[in-house]
Amino acid sequence: MGGAEGLEQELKSLEAEALRALAEAPDSQGVEGVRVKFLGRKGALAEQFTRFREGDWEPADRARIGKLLNGLKQRLEAALSEASGKQPAAPKTSGPRFDPTLPGVVPRAGRLHPLTQTIREIIAIFQELGFSAVEGPEAETDHNNFEALNIPADHPSRESFDTYYLAGAQTPDTGHRTPDTDAAARWLLRSHTSPVQIRYMRTHKPPFQIVVPGRVFRRDAVDATHCFQFHQVEGLAVGPDLSFGDLKGVLEAWARRMFGGRTEIRFRPHYFPFTEPSAEVDLKGPRGWLEIMGCGMVHPNVFKAVGLPPGTAGFAFGMGVERIAMIRHGIQDIRFFFENDLEFLRQFP
Ligand code: PHE
Repeated sequence: MGGAEGLEQELKSLEAEALRALAEAPDSQGVEGVRVKFLGRKGALAEQFTRFREGDWEPADRARIGKLLNGLKQRLEAALSEASGKQPAAPKTSGPRFDPTLPGVVPRAGRLHPLTQTIREIIAIFQELGFSAVEGPEAETDHNNFEALNIPADHPSRESFDTYYLAGAQTPDTGHRTPDTDAAARWLLRSHTSPVQIRYMRTHKPPFQIVVPGRVFRRDAVDATHCFQFHQVEGLAVGPDLSFGDLKGVLEAWARRMFGGRTEIRFRPHYFPFTEPSAEVDLKGPRGWLEIMGCGMVHPNVFKAVGLPPGTAGFAFGMGVERIAMIRHGIQDIRFFFENDLEFLRQFP
């Protein structure tokens, strides 16, 4: 004996154990584990039912224990179905959880190089004055860079354009070749943007007015104000009766738009082989006059070289972009423009 009472005790602790396991199950998977362990086909309760069926009980005990077992089964089933509403197990992931409240990752936005910005500002003003922007190649013929601009091979001003010649480049510039010497067909890195004057005049009928931004190359030693490469914006206007007065008016209007309404510029007589008369243009700054470009009336020999008739009139100018950008932004060293240092470049939004 003691069987019936012992079983009763066991059923009580079985119930307590099952309820505790249920309470501790962290998720639906845990609840399912409890169900299998206690109510499964081979679970703890099924074992007790077997033991009950196979036992040799007093009839009173049999009725009481049967009732106990069925009551226990019902209570456990109820508790389980309530607990099965628990959250499904979180999918197993590695790494940190996603936090939607954190700020997003902002991609770094690019911006235009300060020289590009300056070139665009220069050109936009000339476009308002009726000029169109065109471009030409950085590799040029000796003919376009010098000869057609009234700078023959022995001309002393070639020294101010210490030029990079391209080795072995003798290919004629198709359509632009003249019956000059072989030397005139030599290729070089253009030392100014003026050869685009030649290219444009050979292929367009006046009147026209163009501006030409571009990179130029000179064999200069690098220091704070010199570099082997820099940028120019060339200007050319060809049309009936154009005078030096038109040139002055255009450049003064441009300078006031570029540097402010009170800007003063002055025209200082100068010499260029491809303009006559010629001048250099100075801009008045807080510490005195700064030279920003050369200009003049297009030389008759230049019109002749491109096949325009005698009596054709026009003016031309060429300005240094780095110089202008340095004045505008107070930059002390031309090398900053070419070093690609982001600390420098980020200052020009
Ligand atoms: N090409 C000249 C230079 O590079 C500038 C210039 C252009 C002067 C047009 C007069 C006319 O120095």
